[in-house]
Order: sequence, then C-alpha cells, then structure tokens
Amino acid sequence: MNILVLGSGGREHTLAWKLSQSKHISKLYVAPGNAGTALIANNIPIGVNDFEGIKEAVLENQIEMVVVGPEDPLVKGIHDYFLNDGKLKNIAVIGPQKAAASLEGSKQFAKEFMLRHNIPTAAYQSFTATTITEGEAFLETLNTPYVLKADGLAAGKGVLILNDLNEAKSELRSMLLDSKFGEASTTVVIEEFLSGIELSVFVLTDGKGYKILPTAKDYKRIGEGDTGLNTGGMGAISPVPFADKVLMEKIHQRIVKPTIEGLKMDNLPYKGFIFIGLIKVGDDPFVIEYNVRMGDPETEVVIPRIKNDFVEIFQAVANQRLDDIDLKLDDRSASTVMLVSGGYPESYEKGKEIKGLDEISDSQVFHAGTRIDGEKVVTNGGRVMAITSFGDDFKKALENSYRNIGKLHFDGMNFRSDIGFDL
Ligand code: AMP
Ligand code: GLY
Repeated sequence: MNILVLGSGGREHTLAWKLSQSKHISKLYVAPGNAGTALIANNIPIGVNDFEGIKEAVLENQIEMVVVGPEDPLVKGIHDYFLNDGKLKNIAVIGPQKAAASLEGSKQFAKEFMLRHNIPTAAYQSFTATTITEGEAFLETLNTPYVLKADGLAAGKGVLILNDLNEAKSELRSMLLDSKFGEASTTVVIEEFLSGIELSVFVLTDGKGYKILPTAKDYKRIGEGDTGLNTGGMGAISPVPFADKVLMEKIHQRIVKPTIEGLKMDNLPYKGFIFIGLIKVGDDPFVIEYNVRMGDPETEVVIPRIKNDFVEIFQAVANQRLDDIDLKLDDRSASTVMLVSGGYPESYEKGKEIKGLDEISDSQVFHAGTRIDGEKVVTNGGRVMAITSFGDDFKKALENSYRNIGKLHFDGMNFRSDIGFDL
C-alpha cells in the first residue's frame, strides 16, 4: 500500500517511522517532511494546506491512504475535500472531517459539545466585541487567575492566564477589539481556572469503536521548573505514573465514552486521533481542550510504545473495524527530550549543522525542524529533534536520552534537563 503522511515535525517523522516498519507498505511518502523522513520515505515538497497539490501527488503516486499530522488542514477540511472529489473519494484519510475538527478549531464549539454531553470541564462563557461589557462583568465575578482563550486556532498561543483583573480586562479588549490573535480572537472564551496536574489521553476512533492509547505528559514551557514562555513542547514521558487504574476508569467513563457517543449523536463523522488535554483536580479529571490530531512531542513517546502494525490499525480505522484490533503495548516507559534552537520560542537562527547523529545508540532520533543541505543535516526550525528512549521507568529512559544528547551538537542547541521533574 502507498501511504502519504502530511506534515514536517517530530510527530510526522514518528508516524512515518512506525508505518515504514509495516509489512504492508509499498511506498511511503511524506509532504513536506524533513531530513529524518527523507531517510525512510520519499519527501514531496508540498505544503499541508495545498489541497490541489496534494491531490496531484496522490493521483500521480497511486497513494491509497493519507495520514494527516497537523490540525490546520483538518480544520480547513482536507478530509471533506477528498470525500467531495470523484477521483479521491475512495482514498482513506486518517483525520476527522471539518465539522468534527471544530473540536480543536473552535474553543466555543468544544465547550458547547462538552456541556451538551455532560463532559467535565471548567465553567465558561464566551464573548464577542458586541458583548465586551458583559465579558468584563463576568471577569469581575471570577477568582484569580483569569483564563482567556481565543476561540480559533492561534498556533498554541491563544491562551492567556492572568493574575490581575485590570490586565485581564485590557487583554480581553485587545483580543476582541484589536484582533490580538487575528480572526482567532473574534470570539473569546473566558473560563474558570482549574488547579491541578495535567496529562494527555489519546484516543483513536473509527467513528464507531475506539482504542485508548498510552497516556503522556508533555512539558510546554521553555525553562526548567516549568518557567518562561510556552513552546510547542520540550519533552514528554509515557505512561504517566499517576494515571492509575482508578483515574483511567474515571477518564474512560466520564470523558472518553461520552466524547465518542457525543460525536455519534451529533452526527460528526470521525476517523482519526483525538487528543484530550486533561487536568486532574483533586482526584477528578476535567477536560482542558480537545485536539483533533496527535500531540507533538507526545507522539514521540506514545507511538513507539504501540507494538501493532500501524498500516493494519489505520486500515481498521478507515474500514470501521477498529473493534477487531487487539492493541499490544510495550510495558516499558518512553521519554523524549526536544532539542531546540537558541532563542526559541522567540527568534532564532536556522541552518546550523547538526553533528553527532551517527553516534546515537539505544535512542531513536525523531527529526522536527531539520533539512538536508548537501552532505549535512542542518537546523530548519525552532524545535529541531526529539531524542526518544525506553527504560524500566521514565527516569531510566531519560538517562538514555540525556546520554545520547551529550553526543549531539549544533550552534545554540538548547534543551530542558528536567523533563519529568514534577512527577
Ligand atoms: P489550551 O491551549 O486550551 O491547551 O491551554 C494551554 C494551557 O493553558 C493548558 O495546557 C493549561 O496549562 C492552561 N489552561 C488552559 N485552560 C485552563 C484552565 N481552565 N485552568 C487552568 N489552566 C488552564
Ligand atoms: N504538545 C502539545 C501539542 O501537541 O499540542
């Protein structure tokens, strides 16, 4: 089977790496890919939102399945684009259709969905420019800190957590009146602050059945001890030690089941990953957000722990036979540490040569922002590569990753040396 993975990050390298191990793969393509995917697949230089270009590549290369990595093309309706095209409609697309992708594309939509299906989440109200006075009044009724969320996609930057009421009001004005996050902040969701520890649960569904995948926890802040600016993610571990049987059963019954049932009830076709961002408040799980894709770098620890053939898994998703699959997991822990460019998540330079890749042992390198430059592999983004390792527990796995990171070098290389510090 010929398969195309869309995207260019560590998540897509991991998915491609896993698919490349399948006995069912004939040709594997990644668009646009990176220096890591170039080693195991054919990179096609097409952007993930260039639907026409993707169509051409799919037809030209007899691609039979498209696995969509990032949210953007899903929210823009790539799955619907395939279904509505006579030549593409029988090609399997892994990733939800546009309507269900609104679970990530609109915070308000996600909140209404949770309310409708009794899924525990923070109390909220949403506001637009015409209801800004009500928004300010609502802020006055809340305790600190204040949580303001741009409704739409804002590249992970649309959530503000503020301690001062006046600052919260002024940020609300800037989001609604000055388009702080562009169109994404035409509507703003204000919600109750939940205090607890976060974890992520991943579900794969074919719209009928579902599988709960291994849990993971990522570390989003740039600085050690969870300080400084938010990033796409600086590292992750799986499984999450505090996600015991009791908590997982609550998550399953109160959140996963009603989510899948809710999608069916609301007529929202869904074939793909659901990433549920959770916070454990006391002993109870609450949903912070839905994403309609895998997480990055969570993928780099979740997917390696799944032993099944992923072509078989995705075919089962496409044919709605996921219930027939018996998920086989690696009991060991996996940890990943992200190497980032100096300056990231603010401005940084690209094109730095990455040295030491040949010396890695006992770890898997998943490329993110890299490209091939002649004989060299050079940096090409803020998050450069994730170093994943296994161990009997996450600490042992981390030791392996850090030992290998010691062999790697590029100018300005930065990483967090305290992944898992809070566990
Ligand atoms: P989101 O983009 O919705 O995942 O939010 C980004 C981050 O903001 C989350 O990972 C949480 O750390 C934090 N956050 C979002 N909503 C809340 C909330 N209601 N209470 C506490 N923290 C939150
Ligand atoms: N690591 C968080 C995300 O993928 O959204």
